[in-house]
Amino acid sequence: MKRTKLELFISLRQIQFLIGVGFLYMLVVSLVVPFLFKSITQEDEQVSRTGFLSNHLFALDSEEELQEKEAPIRPIPKTLPNSKKSNLNYDINISSTDGVGAIQKSAMEAFSVGKKFWEEIELELPSKNMRNQTKEICPSSVTLSGSVFEKRGSIIVLPCGMTLGSHITVVGRPRQAHLEQNPKISLLKPGQKNLMVSQFMMELQGLKTVDGEDPPRILHFNPRLKGDWSGKPMIEQNTCYRMQWGLAQRCEGWKSRADEETVDGQVKCEKWIRDDDNSSEETKTSWWLNRMIGRTKKVAFDWPFPFAEGKLFVLTLSAGLEGYHGFALEDATGLAFKGDVDVNAIFAGSLPSTHPNFAPQRTLEMSNRWKTRPLPDTPIDLFIGVLSAGNHFAERMAVRKSWMQYDLIKSSRVVARFFVALARALRVILSRCLISQQHARKEVNAELKKESDFFGDIVIVPYMDNYDLVVLKTVAICEYGVRTASAKYIMKCDDDTFVRVDAVLTAANKIDDRKSLYLGNINYYHKPLRYGKWAVTYEEWPEEDYPPYANGPGYILSSDIAKFIALKFEKHTLKLFKMEDVSMGMWIEQFNKTKRVEYVHSLKFCQFGCIQDYYTAHYQSPRQMLCMWNKLHLQGRIECCNMR
Ligand SMILES: *[C@@H]1O[C@H](CO)[C@@H](O)[C@H](O)[C@H]1NC(C)=O
Ligand SMILES: *[C@@H]1O[C@H](CO)[C@@H](O)[C@H](O)[C@H]1NC(C)=O
Ligand SMILES: *[C@@H]1O[C@H](CO)[C@@H](O)[C@H](O)[C@H]1NC(C)=O
Ligand SMILES: *[C@@H]1O[C@H](CO)[C@@H](O)[C@H](O)[C@H]1NC(C)=O
Repeated sequence: MKRTKLELFISLRQIQFLIGVGFLYMLVVSLVVPFLFKSITQEDEQVSRTGFLSNHLFALDSEEELQEKEAPIRPIPKTLPNSKKSNLNYDINISSTDGVGAIQKSAMEAFSVGKKFWEEIELELPSKNMRNQTKEICPSSVTLSGSVFEKRGSIIVLPCGMTLGSHITVVGRPRQAHLEQNPKISLLKPGQKNLMVSQFMMELQGLKTVDGEDPPRILHFNPRLKGDWSGKPMIEQNTCYRMQWGLAQRCEGWKSRADEETVDGQVKCEKWIRDDDNSSEETKTSWWLNRMIGRTKKVAFDWPFPFAEGKLFVLTLSAGLEGYHGFALEDATGLAFKGDVDVNAIFAGSLPSTHPNFAPQRTLEMSNRWKTRPLPDTPIDLFIGVLSAGNHFAERMAVRKSWMQYDLIKSSRVVARFFVALARALRVILSRCLISQQHARKEVNAELKKESDFFGDIVIVPYMDNYDLVVLKTVAICEYGVRTASAKYIMKCDDDTFVRVDAVLTAANKIDDRKSLYLGNINYYHKPLRYGKWAVTYEEWPEEDYPPYANGPGYILSSDIAKFIALKFEKHTLKLFKMEDVSMGMWIEQFNKTKRVEYVHSLKFCQFGCIQDYYTAHYQSPRQMLCMWNKLHLQGRIECCNMR
């Protein structure tokens, strides 16, 4: 049982009784549990702790070390000191606020707060005092009654996340089906009556996120008792990283094929009794036959669907070794319930006592091997600015250990830097053992400074981070790329973008040097979304259409365009819009009026994930980054790591 990841115990009787008598039915549904991967860093520790040897990892280490010795590094005579702070500033005098847009105002505020934060971290020596305060202890178990759970918004918070062997057990009861009014869910065909639906969602979430981002749904577990389009009870699972849903996995009561991959030795989907399946009778017959004949063949048991309206169930979620989507266990900081279910009790046990994110040095591998080279004082071919957020320590480490290891970067022909603003308080929900928000912010900023000092690859943009102001980081990339790095081309990407540096540079070099270039996955005639959570108001964007713009996760400009942007920003004549990629499209449209810009469109700058033969891949978790780099570097294969 220990190794099982998701166990569902269901009983049709009272739970007290059930505990006394033993489980009447036990159905093991080993489903895809996506939060089981730890980053390689942690895995290394795992390796030493558990005594398992992973040849793969060792092979990687030695191989790369060899590579380092053999790679012909171009001698760099002179270098510039690594500039840690962006020169970007925004202090126009606005005693009169007329004609100043909301985004300009918030940019000015963010810069003035950022100034204070910067002074704070410049002054603050990493004191032991601070470190002590962060070493708070989380309880090893949490028990909540149903009523307390409901009062807390149907969410149980695990401030220190989960660790290998942690488990959460829930006793609950699905409610009776109701008439579904939400047309999105019921999806009626004409003439059809409203649908009866009973379903609920259990979500393992990562609650500590940056402002403006939804918490990632590490596991979305959605039993549908009634109302699924298939007409049968089923369990759907998914995962959602940076607001992007993955491919849903549906368990419909058919056993996984023998050749399908397993999770810690368990099949992904178990079989349960279906009313349209006649083979169960045969199974019973053959079971009897096998018994009579005395065969030792493994016996297949049949269980009903593990959830029934009005009947108690016991569900245990436990953390094992294998998983799919590249989340670290400590990211799993909350478990929420939604939908047609009443939770009677919830118990979480074997929890870790500290959260490694408050000790980023555990995520960060402070090895000289991952330090960046200083900037050469000669012009470079390509400057890559990577948008990142203060607490994305793991994401940055994965970039350092993957595509930043290209020879092009090691030889300083291409330079890559992270652009990070200063963290405001972390959004931390409901917790007894978390440090105060004030300290969380100082801690993240101080750690960021330390990380920046050590690796030399972070450019801090001195404003307080805000999702609506990422456009400022784009401006900072342009400014730094032309002024500090003297690059021929400037590329912008995100810290979950995997970049094939060689392919991208080759694509840019295909265009005549004298031409101005805008290269990426270009959208033509896109319209602003006017409703919903990500709506754009007419005040923010009055026109009906957006200009042609390249998708944000990866695009390239020639330096003349970047220079134009930096200059206009300094003169306070650069129009800002909260979507950085659309802003870029707008600025380039303007530039194109004086000098013609070559718009080069390529789908290989993949926006939605990863495609064959990609130039850039997006939404790649730290684990996937390392996997892709291994394929590329060790095996020479341009392949995605979908890990599904
Ligand atoms: C801003 O403008 C006000 C009045 O218009 C003036 O008194 C003040 O000195 C200005 N501040 C700066 C920094 O220029
Ligand atoms: C930090 O904690 C250690 C051990 O818990 C203690 O010895 C030390 O005095 C503490 N430092 C401060 C500044 O509180
Ligand atoms: C089950 O049996 C019924 C009648 O015996 C038959 O009509 C039906 O097609 C069978 N279904 C399956 C899935 O074999
Ligand atoms: C760029 O300018 C040229 C004329 O100089 C025009 O034909 C072209 O449509 C413009 N491109 C865009 C995308 O605005």
